Amino acid sequence: MELPYAEPYKIKMVESIKRSTKEQRLKWIKKANYNLFNLSSENVFIDLLTDSGTGAMSDKQWAEMMIGDESYAGSSSFLKLKKTVKKITGFKYFLPTHQGRAAENVLFSVLVKEGDIVPGNSHFDTTKGHIEFRKATAVDCTIDEAFDTSIIHPFKGNIDLNKLEKVFKSHPKEKIPFVILTITCNSAGGQPVSVQNTKEVSQLCKKYGIPLYFDSARYAENAYFIKKRELGYENKTIKEIVKEVFSYGDGMTISAKKDGLVNMGGFIALNNEEVFKQATVFNIMYEGFITYGGMNGRDMGALAVGLDEATEFNYLESRVEQVAYLGKKLVEYGVPVQQPFGGHAIFLDANKFVPKIPREEYRAQALAIEIYIVGGIRGVEIGTVLADRDPFTRKNRFPDLELVRLAIPRRTYTNNHMDYIAATLKNIYDTREEAKSGYEITDEAPIMRHFTVKFKKI
Ligand code: F0G
Repeated sequence: MELPYAEPYKIKMVESIKRSTKEQRLKWIKKANYNLFNLSSENVFIDLLTDSGTGAMSDKQWAEMMIGDESYAGSSSFLKLKKTVKKITGFKYFLPTHQGRAAENVLFSVLVKEGDIVPGNSHFDTTKGHIEFRKATAVDCTIDEAFDTSIIHPFKGNIDLNKLEKVFKSHPKEKIPFVILTITCNSAGGQPVSVQNTKEVSQLCKKYGIPLYFDSARYAENAYFIKKRELGYENKTIKEIVKEVFSYGDGMTISAKKDGLVNMGGFIALNNEEVFKQATVFNIMYEGFITYGGMNGRDMGALAVGLDEATEFNYLESRVEQVAYLGKKLVEYGVPVQQPFGGHAIFLDANKFVPKIPREEYRAQALAIEIYIVGGIRGVEIGTVLADRDPFTRKNRFPDLELVRLAIPRRTYTNNHMDYIAATLKNIYDTREEAKSGYEITDEAPIMRHFTVKFKKI
């Protein structure tokens, strides 16, 4: 009999989470104006709002916390991290930042100017935000397969080379500061990018003289998919794959809160000395001196260990396969989910789940609220609420997909929790015919409304 995967760790410390009743949750969510961001986390049983900064650190990472060097300059924890970043990514230069969007802010301050075009595969919100904030445009060149939740494709995060070349041909080289490849592609549902696609994108970039950067929040999970799905990589180690992928680019930004296995942190790594020099200035202005950049010494030490642990096959197998375990259960129950499953999350297809709730009544939000009420599980809407209003017409933008993301924190929940989540969803799915109406917005911010928006039940 083939042995199943099992976590390459045992549990040394536990954190209590509280069960509650449906009546309590109805009261709490109403008080939160039906916005899941407004809930107190104590009133959540299983928190799948994000996999960012919500994972569990290992004993070795906690040991690093104890010996962190908090020196302002030249901290030994910084040097440990620097060495590990070089070893894992291969990039020459490195700047720590306090999280992913800070790395974007620093790097884009150097590279992005008004009127620029930044092509990529479905840019993450903050990446797009930092591009648009500089009056530049993010162009999505993801393959079409990514936008249909039922199409099975091993690398739905891939870039369509024709789309990319079209962008290259229709704008002068000076207007395209770089291409950004997000691995895995969060906005496309945690979908991976293949080595072959990375290589081809890199070659096209070189042909047109345009640098290639990675948004690497989930680079290790991306490497796991490559090992499992791409011909010729089955016998390579995760660390070898990671090194190869990064070798095709000029640099990277990362939110270390995901595959860095820490609660807070990020960095920039790159090869171009001139860009590094300029980024150093912005790093000092926005983040802090270059040997800490917004991170504590102890956090840099923990991150150094985290990067090593996250690029080990056994860890990644238990991590990604746990997400798939939940996905398979949901498919078994007939619940419509995006396939193949993402590396960090399962995405529920609300258009298929609750089609009778009008889109104007925010059906994915309605589903996310119902999941909380029924099971005490907190996911997040990725649909019309998040898509926000058109900045010019102020009309709601209706994206192709109305999703609820269930992001699984790393090394945090057991498969019993996955069973509980799946059973909750089955029960909701079985009564889906009753769901006919949704919510109405009573208050919203002019931008990034999803964090603070208030709703009323219709
Ligand atoms: N890039 C990607 C692909 C991300 O998923 C995130 C964050 C960031 C950049 C920004 O990093 O949060 O450290 O500033 N994603 C989180 C999420 C928030 O829930 O998906 P940050």
